[in-house]
Amino acid sequence: MSGWAVVLGASAGTGAAVATHVARDPGLHVFGVHRGRYVEGAHAVEAEVRAAGREVVMRTADAGTAEGAEQGADALLAAAGKRSVRLVVHSIASASVGRLVHGERTVVPRQVEKTFDAMAHSFLYWTQALVARELLAPGAQILGLTNPLSESTLHNSGLIAAAKGALEMYVRHLAMELGPMGHRVNLLKFGTVVTPALRHVFDEGAMRRVEAVHARMIPAGRMVTLEEVAAFVAVLCKPAGAWFNGATIDFTGGMTQHLLDLVMYPEAGGGALW
Ligand SMILES: NC(=O)c1ccc[n+]([C@@H]2O[C@H](COP(=O)([O-])OP(=O)(O)OC[C@H]3O[C@@H](n4cnc5c(N)ncnc54)[C@H](OP(=O)(O)O)[C@@H]3O)[C@@H](O)[C@H]2O)c1
Repeated sequence: MSGWAVVLGASAGTGAAVATHVARDPGLHVFGVHRGRYVEGAHAVEAEVRAAGREVVMRTADAGTAEGAEQGADALLAAAGKRSVRLVVHSIASASVGRLVHGERTVVPRQVEKTFDAMAHSFLYWTQALVARELLAPGAQILGLTNPLSESTLHNSGLIAAAKGALEMYVRHLAMELGPMGHRVNLLKFGTVVTPALRHVFDEGAMRRVEAVHARMIPAGRMVTLEEVAAFVAVLCKPAGAWFNGATIDFTGGMTQHLLDLVMYPEAGGGALW
């Protein structure tokens, strides 16, 4: 498959894994954007994309604003040309955590605006900028990423959950608007994956606890890997994925489905009925 993948947040975590995977399969060139906090990660992605025989442009800029989207799309047009983009993955993680009302870390308007800009509105701004420049190839897949916070609450994560809710609505409406042009807009939902950012937040002991909790929550008994997420994104941008549109695709491995079991039968690891 020829064409370009646009990966917003390409220097670390999910974005980096997707960028390197889609360069190998289905063989897309990569236009990545990041702000420069993971320079080594960005270099590693560039090297892997080139090793796969594909072109790579790694832009260091803020992709989480309307201006960032306009300028990024101009740079993309100059590098790739019209109707060249087959896949867009919005993998920006930049959010404030804290309580909504009570406690010392109550989120303030500046944090609310920044989180919504980076995690939700920028998905819309990039889509608008790409469409305005006719950058999307026929059948292009535009993908947002989300997590199970939409169906279960997690302490201090109300703002992220709210931004993900907005992202989901953008996905649905953009899917209706862009569907007649042949494009697809979807949201991929997956559970916690181990990324450099997560390792930064949790020490080794905490990471072991995170893994143990997920092993209980997910019927397969383990967390999903970045490579598994990236491999599924590669499927989505091929013709086999073309019938998904406006969908929130559950790739959580059943992560939240037996939370009630876990609460009711903790001593049996949530497995009393199964
Ligand atoms: N990790 C998980 O467990 C998980 C699970 C489900 C869904 N997701 C979703 O997957 C997406 C990616 O999460 P992740 O955990 O993979 O993130 P991550 O490892 O923290 O990486 C985030 C990437 O985004 C870049 N970035 C952040 N703000 C940016 C901005 N304003 N402009 C340009 N680049 C920016 C970062 O580089 P710079 O900081 O240098 O810019 C980095 O390349 C998020 O939407 C997240 O909600 C994650």
